[in-house]
Amino acid sequence: MKVFVTGAAGFIGSNFTRYVLGLGRGYSIVSYDKLTYAGNLANLDSIADNSNYRFVKGDICDPASVEIAMSGCDGVVHFAAESHVDRSIYEPSACIETNVKGTFVLLQVARKLNISRFLHISTDEVYGDLQPGEFATENSSIRPSSPYSSSKAASDLLVLSFVRTYGFPALITRSSNNYGPYQFPEKFLPLMITNACDGKPLPIYGDGGQQRDWLHVDDNCRGILAVFEHGGVGEVYNIGGSDVIDNLTMARRVLRLMGKADGSLAFVKDRPGHDRRYALRCDKIETELGWRPSISLDEGLRQTIEWYKRRSDWLAGVRGGDYRTYYAKYYENRDASLRSIPERRFGSSS
Ligand code: NAD
Ligand code: TYD
Repeated sequence: MKVFVTGAAGFIGSNFTRYVLGLGRGYSIVSYDKLTYAGNLANLDSIADNSNYRFVKGDICDPASVEIAMSGCDGVVHFAAESHVDRSIYEPSACIETNVKGTFVLLQVARKLNISRFLHISTDEVYGDLQPGEFATENSSIRPSSPYSSSKAASDLLVLSFVRTYGFPALITRSSNNYGPYQFPEKFLPLMITNACDGKPLPIYGDGGQQRDWLHVDDNCRGILAVFEHGGVGEVYNIGGSDVIDNLTMARRVLRLMGKADGSLAFVKDRPGHDRRYALRCDKIETELGWRPSISLDEGLRQTIEWYKRRSDWLAGVRGGDYRTYYAKYYENRDASLRSIPERRFGSSS
């Protein structure tokens, strides 16, 4: 099967592409990516010479370019997005353009080309802020809070409308927060790891009590392939980890695994509209497709920390121009509001 993978030069897309080609199950992949600040061909270095892989640089908002690149493919796995909540707050337009219009363009072209399977990659953030102890199922209401999550919710609804209106063979995964190798270091976990390596403060928004469900990217890639191969058309599948944990506890766990003291943790002014809790029930993918997360949080964190320490070459590459400008423009201001954190205020929670 020939699969058109959008956003394959980003974090999850590159892990997925390497994973699928590594299985040697007869897949070939056309990877399509605009190479925004978050896209990096170095993420795909190890498969650059694979004869079952081809890279095309292009924008998902450009129908003509998408059509040329997608021709001859049987399936689509759609990762491409503006994926960072903070950026969507500071500069929302790119997020709406790519996540909403780009998804619409892909659906139109895929329908025209009679694509037989279209998997849209979405997020648990579409369920919005959950109550303490609450978990979202696939039937929970959609209540996004940020420009990012509302653009993802809009794209999910477009996908489902194509299923209903045109009988288009699409399906959706909604995963929780991913972590692992090749994640751009503006996101929480790589930011904590790399700041700790550099002896910089670890900036925690608000009181650090916001809870996230953490999923190793390898577990997500397995889940995505299972849904792509065996999921029901028109269905949504949650994919979550087994740990729901607050940000402060998570940052402390990173420091502990790195053998560092808590002293570098610091509260900064909270993100506007910050969701307090995300947590997923994943019974559907577990019972229908036999998927379960297999990497424990401590094991996954240990591997991820080692990876960032080992790949200082990769880090130097992605921390060039755009990252530095972004950090200086938004995070340095924020870091100026640092307040030190009383020792051990939170325990882990679920
Ligand atoms: P990422 O930001 O690391 O990568 C996004 C990729 O999309 C980059 O390679 C970028 O160049 C490409 N891209 C952006 N705009 C494009 C455009 N207009 N045309 C073509 N390519 C474009 O993102 P990620 O973390 O790998 O997330 C991938 C997908 O998974 C996204 O749809 C995101 O919403 C979803 N998701 C991510 C997480 C997470 O924790 N990272 C969790 C749940 C869902
Ligand atoms: P992030 O990685 O941006 O993912 P998302 O907002 O999509 O969940 O952030 C994860 C959590 O970490 C979120 O609650 C915001 C918080 N956070 C911080 O406390 N400090 C930071 O510097 C960043 C980037 C995030």
